[in-house]
Amino acid sequence: MEAMVEGQLVAYDEAGEGTPLVLIHGYPLTRRLWEPQLRELAAHARVIALDLWGFGGSAAVGEATMGTYADQVRALMDELSIGRAVVGGLSMGGYITFEFFRRYSNRVAGLIFANTKAGPDSAEARAGRDQSAELAREKGVDAIAAAMLPKLLSPGAYAGNRGVVLTAEGIMRGSTVEGIVAALGAMRDRPDSTPTLQWIDRPTLVIGGKDDQLIPPAESEKIAGGVRGGRLEMLPDAGHLSNLEQADLFSRAVGDFLKKVG
Ligand code: MLT
Repeated sequence: MEAMVEGQLVAYDEAGEGTPLVLIHGYPLTRRLWEPQLRELAAHARVIALDLWGFGGSAAVGEATMGTYADQVRALMDELSIGRAVVGGLSMGGYITFEFFRRYSNRVAGLIFANTKAGPDSAEARAGRDQSAELAREKGVDAIAAAMLPKLLSPGAYAGNRGVVLTAEGIMRGSTVEGIVAALGAMRDRPDSTPTLQWIDRPTLVIGGKDDQLIPPAESEKIAGGVRGGRLEMLPDAGHLSNLEQADLFSRAVGDFLKKVG
């Protein structure tokens, strides 16, 4: 589906009825990341998965901050007449979810942080963002996808689960160079969300992957420990894209959470 948001095209998928659940993909991915959850959670909720600016079918809008994406999510919610939603994101989607809470807490019924962290980039990580942007500009999306692929999955899935490897690769191919470069800048300059944890006053679910090579389980533990009443689900045999590798467990954890949030 498509909507015009602030004069720009936003692509999104929607399934089901009930409590609105807005899912935000990570980098360098698209809304296709959430296909298993759209299928499996439609019985529990009105599930919406959007393409961030410059990814999948959404327009590219030049330089971005986490605020640019949080505003995009809010504007799409306005367009779809959604007042309050459970808002959740994976990895970069989680960084955006923190920003969404800071800007629009009145639009939040609950929060989901999957395979993400509260802290900012280290100096080394910041330099890495600039190198990746250079690689994207010179060699394109495929070079970024090739560099990311082994890190996105658990070693077991990367070596033995051809289906999930091809799916992850295919999703990354839906990114654009402009979208990638903008997201890298936004992640490089994102604020520290650690001080935000103590202010979160909404039901919060944190999901991690025991075999996440990009964002280790300890980061999920920090978020869950820092949020009052934060609930942690650490999925076995799951890497960074835990919702793809362990789709059923992930969707069940979110489905149980939604029942509590109501
Ligand atoms: C993501 O999966 O969204 C990114 O890899 C997160 C990051 O690079 O910090």
